[in-house]
Amino acid sequence: MKQTNWYKDAVIYQIYPRSFCDSNGDGVGDIPGIISKLDYLKELGVNCVWLSPVYNSPQEDNGYDISDYRNIYPPFGTMDDFKKMLDGMHERGIRLIMDLVVNHTSSEHVWFQEALKDPSSPYRDYYYFKKGRKNGKKPPNNWSGFFGKSTWERVGDSDEYYLHLFAKGQPDLNWENYRVRQEVKDILKFWLDLGVDGFRCDVITLISKKQDFKSRFPSLALTGKDAFVNGPRLHEYLHELNKDVISNYDAMTVGETVLSSLDDARALVDPKREELSMVFNFDHTDTDNYLGIKFLKRKFKVKRLKKVIKKWQLGLFNCGWNSLFIENHDQRRSVGRFGTDEAYREVGAKMLGTLYFFLQGTPFIYEGQEIGMTNAHFSSMDEIVDVESHDMAKMAKANFLLRPLINKSLFEVSRDNARTPMQWDDSKNGGFSSGTPWIRSNSNYQNINAKESIANPTSIFHYYQKLINIRKNDNVIKHGDYVELLRHNRHIFAYSRNFENEQYVVICSFSKKDLKVKGIDSILKGKLLISNYDNPQGNTFKPYEARVYKLVKEK
Ligand code: NOJ
Repeated sequence: MKQTNWYKDAVIYQIYPRSFCDSNGDGVGDIPGIISKLDYLKELGVNCVWLSPVYNSPQEDNGYDISDYRNIYPPFGTMDDFKKMLDGMHERGIRLIMDLVVNHTSSEHVWFQEALKDPSSPYRDYYYFKKGRKNGKKPPNNWSGFFGKSTWERVGDSDEYYLHLFAKGQPDLNWENYRVRQEVKDILKFWLDLGVDGFRCDVITLISKKQDFKSRFPSLALTGKDAFVNGPRLHEYLHELNKDVISNYDAMTVGETVLSSLDDARALVDPKREELSMVFNFDHTDTDNYLGIKFLKRKFKVKRLKKVIKKWQLGLFNCGWNSLFIENHDQRRSVGRFGTDEAYREVGAKMLGTLYFFLQGTPFIYEGQEIGMTNAHFSSMDEIVDVESHDMAKMAKANFLLRPLINKSLFEVSRDNARTPMQWDDSKNGGFSSGTPWIRSNSNYQNINAKESIANPTSIFHYYQKLINIRKNDNVIKHGDYVELLRHNRHIFAYSRNFENEQYVVICSFSKKDLKVKGIDSILKGKLLISNYDNPQGNTFKPYEARVYKLVKEK
């Protein structure tokens, strides 16, 4: 099948179904709710949706724990609803990529249930069951997982444990077993034959593990990660999926490549190697923490952001493809983050949007980002549902050294900040549900909602519409190179993109004060493509001002 690489021209909107739109008043978003909002997506201008998991699941990790890969979680709807939604998207020129969660299943998946029931069942080898140390009293090794705890759960009072890098209801699949790989390929085929256009591959860099299962030198987080991140057979497995399935369709894959270096990523997206279409890199989300641990918050610095953006823009230029994002369901909201201030919500949100939309790669917008939704400002663990946050709170309780650090940042960085219901209008619960939402709505829905944003021509929504429009068929953004400008300025992030005789210059201020920017006089002569202020003039930048100029060089 001919690969059209359509994803390079896509702007992708992420839907977290549980929080998007509830059609039947049970407090949980659902597929009919999504169908009712397809015209909204069309109006925004996106041409692809990434749908977080809608498969059947006990929802320990909100669907990232799948118990049946070929059915829909009943509160979200039925397979018929799904097909209707897919048709509705395609009719509007919107593609759909599904979330592929195959590093682990749910512990309620029939494979795992069979494996538990009968140790001699072939399903036992679908997972990692290992004997514990000290006659089973201690786990097989000292690895610690992504939610802070041991990666091992004991099976009843036997001496065996099973591996889970996330919650205990998420046992890791054993990809060494060719049958597991065959099952995954069948799942891919099932959805591609239904007409979906690709996959966002959840924690895909974890699927291959070193097989020694020995303890490692203890570290603050993720002890043993050298054994389970970017494992020895990762590339081989991805190539196999690509060759046997993906390449038979005009489909794309984007890998959630946790903890990948630039070199790892280059190999993963090198078109010649036929592995993934693009990667999600997280370096920029670590510009406000220590050691890549989000609970260890650190003051944001523009210079750190400049450094990582440059590294990835240059690093994948002409050899791979970036994905671009500032929010998703695992990150707190960007309003008030990355050096912005919630008090300057509107200009700040538009500035960050400008900054990442002109980079090379495919931009993703997370639901609510386009209307500038804000963090929830939680004040009690009772308001938080997320399993990761609760596991971290337990860890803090048990570890007096980490306690002050985690407790200080937990409410602020909890993933639930991004999972409060989508704010559609100023009616009860922001129009998300007529019932009681599964997680409380953000109290600011009366002012911040999609209805208001659509009615207000200068809203963040309309600004995103413009950004999306500018990108359409734009060669400079798609093909141009990346040149960092004003490198030593601590408050300004500026870069140019250059293609043939055209140049775009993006200048973004991270200052809350008016700022005189030196050295841009020749740029100011260009044509202003977009700005988050009316009629910006001269070299004084207002708080969080962003401008993009187009310059045409004489041939
Ligand atoms: C990454 C997903 O984005 C996150 O929400 C989930 O908890 C883990 N993977 C485990 O599937």
